[in-house]
Amino acid sequence: MTEKWINQVFCEDALAGLARIPDAAVDLILTDPPYNLGKDYGNDSDSQTVEDYLRWTEQWIDAALPKLKPNGSLYIFLTWRFSPEIFVLLKQRMTMMNEIIWDRRVPSMGGSVRSFSSVHDTIGFFVRRKDYYFDLDAVRIPYDAATKKARSRSIFIGAKWLEVGYNPKDLWSVSRLHREHPERADHPTQKPLEIIERMVKASCPPDGVVLDLFMGSGTTAIAAQRCGRNFVGFELNPDYCAIIAERLAQDQQPLVAVKKKAAPRPRAPRKPVVKRSTAN
Ligand SMILES: C[S@@+](CC[C@H](N)C(=O)[O-])C[C@H]1O[C@@H](n2cnc3c(N)ncnc32)[C@H](O)[C@@H]1O
Repeated sequence: MTEKWINQVFCEDALAGLARIPDAAVDLILTDPPYNLGKDYGNDSDSQTVEDYLRWTEQWIDAALPKLKPNGSLYIFLTWRFSPEIFVLLKQRMTMMNEIIWDRRVPSMGGSVRSFSSVHDTIGFFVRRKDYYFDLDAVRIPYDAATKKARSRSIFIGAKWLEVGYNPKDLWSVSRLHREHPERADHPTQKPLEIIERMVKASCPPDGVVLDLFMGSGTTAIAAQRCGRNFVGFELNPDYCAIIAERLAQDQQPLVAVKKKAAPRPRAPRKPVVKRSTAN
């Protein structure tokens, strides 16, 4: 694909930037907006009044949905505090397929004393039409050796379900990225690649396009690049845009063992992938 907007993260407001993308051009909207819980993203996007937050959410949803192909899908990360209202907004426009619970595997230490400790994020999976793209085989989870062994009687030999693995359920238990995690960049709410890659593989065809309006540290772009898909998206904070550019460049480097006294290899010039906002 050679379009100017493909494989770019624009350092600008998503609502303005969406005008760059033609209608019905993306296969998947996968986005993780501010949750409105008062996080400091270097802007006030996470500290709005509830009314402003919900009004703004409706605004960006209505601006983004026309960009989706008719057989496309949408995943949205939310907090339980606002998912009920936002799911209603989306259900008026799309069909809800799943509420996925991301169990962040928070260790049992302290937590709330006047309520139960919240250790999950809520993810909505929505589609537009019955013939939406969904590749279950790409995201099946292999059975472990013990299960396979327990099913080694002749009636199970060659059983397709045993060979291909099982269908992921709607409870995803994946550790959050703690400070020392090798994947961790300098962003307060970075999501694990494991989760984003699963969504990309299941809901965006190879060579398709994933749109993330709120890129943060660029996890959606990295996941798309790793899975052989294209990406486009936006991020307001220039420091995070720099992190995205760095992560994308690093991820393109082949993993080679470092040898002593290796001759320096000439590097091909990289095409810019993160752009400062400019006029269209
Ligand atoms: C929850 S974080 C995304 C984290 C991301 N999924 C990751 O793995 O790093 C939301 C991001 O949206 C950005 N943001 C807030 N308002 C925005 C807007 N109007 N346009 C573009 N980005 C915005 C924030 O700066 C923040 O980095």
